[in-house]
Amino acid sequence: MKGEHIMQEIAWQASLILMALVALGFAFVAINSGGRYEDYAPLQKRAYRLRLALFWGVVLVFGPTMIYTLVNLPYDAAHARGVRDARPAQVIQATGHLWYWELSETEIATGHPVEFRVTSADVNHGFGIYDTNMKLVAQVQAMPGYINTLRHTFDEAGTYKIMCLEYCGTVHHAMVAELTVAGR
Ligand code: CUA
Repeated sequence: MKGEHIMQEIAWQASLILMALVALGFAFVAINSGGRYEDYAPLQKRAYRLRLALFWGVVLVFGPTMIYTLVNLPYDAAHARGVRDARPAQVIQATGHLWYWELSETEIATGHPVEFRVTSADVNHGFGIYDTNMKLVAQVQAMPGYINTLRHTFDEAGTYKIMCLEYCGTVHHAMVAELTVAGR
């Protein structure tokens, strides 16, 4: 979605500016570190006051920002939704291999719950489902010896992508599979 791209752009620009400020701070300290240690007591007092103000400033600015940006993560949303939706689900077995996904089915109907039973045949992989805008909608670990279940209901038709979310070797990036979601 457009709004999210703008948010990402803003976050990226903001982090660049912050990184530049930190670098400037380091440069300032490096340049001014040649002085003598004289009477530091009053300076220290002022620095401590400033530090306290900075601390609360950071808490007040980044606390709400963190909460605001984390509420839309798909982890809990997908889980809460799957728990609420008690209808029998379409079961899809998903196995990660070096370096491909093996899926028992790839055709899904919109509005119908799907339960992915996710495991791995070799090493740890990450099973991530992306919508047509390449936004992560649900994810779970694919681990050898375990079956992790992931329930999700696809509301929008389209071609979804499954991509590996955990670095698993040289061809990690090619672990892509597709799910076709269509209305009934
Ligand atoms: Cu499988 Cu990265």
